[in-house]
Amino acid sequence: MRLKHSSSPAPVAPNPSMGLVLPPRSTLRKAGLASPRTLLFPIDVSDAPELWTTIDASRWHLERWLPWVPYNGSLETTMHYAEASAADWDAGRALRFCIRSNPGHELLGVVGLDSCVYLHRSCELGYWLKREATGRGLMTEAAKACIDFAFRTVGFHRIRCAAGTNNYPSLRVIGRLGFRFEGIARQAELVGTRWLDHAVFARLAVDDPPP
Ligand SMILES: CC(C)(COP(=O)(O)OP(=O)(O)OC[C@H]1O[C@@H](n2cnc3c(N)ncnc32)[C@H](O)[C@@H]1OP(=O)(O)O)[C@@H](O)C(=O)NCCC(=O)NCCS
Repeated sequence: MRLKHSSSPAPVAPNPSMGLVLPPRSTLRKAGLASPRTLLFPIDVSDAPELWTTIDASRWHLERWLPWVPYNGSLETTMHYAEASAADWDAGRALRFCIRSNPGHELLGVVGLDSCVYLHRSCELGYWLKREATGRGLMTEAAKACIDFAFRTVGFHRIRCAAGTNNYPSLRVIGRLGFRFEGIARQAELVGTRWLDHAVFARLAVDDPPP
C-alpha cells in the first residue's frame, strides 16, 4: 500500500515529511468533492450501469482520443472497470471520480489521478466528458476540484497531464488549469490505428494557481 488512509472524515492536511494521506473512499462517497456545478464521487461498482450508458452514447466523441473506448464494449466490461477503480483507490494506485451534475446528480464523465507514486508524490490527471456536457466549462471546473484535492488533501507534489498535440479542447483545459508545458512525447499513445504525439505538461504544488 502506497498511501496512508485517513480514518477521519475531515480532510487531513498533508505533512511533507509523512508522504500522502488518502481519505477513505466511503467518506468521499457520502460527501463528494464540490465545485460550483459538479460533485465528484470516487467510482464505485454501483456507478457501472450509468457509466456504461454514458460511454456507449458518447462512443464516437470519446474514441477519437481515448484508446480504451473500443475495448469497453459491454456493461460487464464497465463493471470490471468500476471494480478495478474501487480497488485502485483502496490500494492507493489511482483516485478516479465520477463527475455528477449539481443539482441533478446526472453522470457527466470521469476525472481522476492515475499512476500515483508515493515515493515522488506524483500522479497523472486524466478526464473525459460526455459530448452533451462539453462546451460549458464543466471539465475545467471539475478538474480544478480534483487538483485542489490532490495538492491540499492528499499531498501530491507534482501532477502530470498529457494530451494529443491536436486534441485542442483538452489542450485548452490544460492551459486553463495552469499546467506548464514540458515537452513532446513522440508516438506516446496508440488510439485506434493512429499514433498520437503527446504534449506533456505538469503542475507542482508550489506553482502559482491559475487566475
Ligand atoms: C477534453 C474535454 C473534457 C474538454 O471539454 P470542454 O467542454 O471543452 O472543456 P471545459 O469543460 O473546460 O469547457 C470549456 C469550454 O466551455 C466554454 N464555456 C462555456 N461556459 C463556460 C464557463 N462558465 N466557464 C468556462 N468555460 C465555459 C468555453 O468557451 C470553452 O470552450 P473553448 O475551449 O472552445 O473556448 C472534452 O472535449 C472531452 O471529453 N473530449 C474527449 C475525451 C478527451 O479528449 N479526454 C482528454 C484526453 S487527453
